[in-house]
Amino acid sequence: MEQNELTPVRRRGFLGLMLGGLGAALGAMFAWPVLRYLSPRSGGGADSQARVTRDKVPVGGAFLLEFRGRPAVLLQPKAGDFVALSAVCTHLGCIVKWQKDKGEFLCPCHGGRFSNTGEVLGGPPPKPLESFKVALEGDEIVIG
Ligand code: FES
Repeated sequence: MEQNELTPVRRRGFLGLMLGGLGAALGAMFAWPVLRYLSPRSGGGADSQARVTRDKVPVGGAFLLEFRGRPAVLLQPKAGDFVALSAVCTHLGCIVKWQKDKGEFLCPCHGGRFSNTGEVLGGPPPKPLESFKVALEGDEIVIG
């Protein structure tokens, strides 16, 4: 028998190594999306700010944006009066929708309702929407 010939024992070892490598590759393939989902987004630090020009927020209307890596909404209930709120429902995390005709938010998941200042008006949400500091700088609204 020649030295380079694969014996059954060496063949089994090679197949075990290949199956182990394949298993590790498949494990990494499934773990990567889970780890990406669980890790915080970059640029979402607690001290970050967002800027929106005033003309994007109509009186009585809402402007959706991403703030600190999460959905947020900017309102102008009265002319020159701006409110910034998280758009994430405090019940189970669905994204609330602005109902311009009613002047309130509705959560499409379980019917939670919030006022234009984020206070709970009805439904299962246990606490108000998170609110953010708003400042005016010239033609811009600065959130955060
Ligand atoms: S997630 Fe909004 S009411 Fe349940």
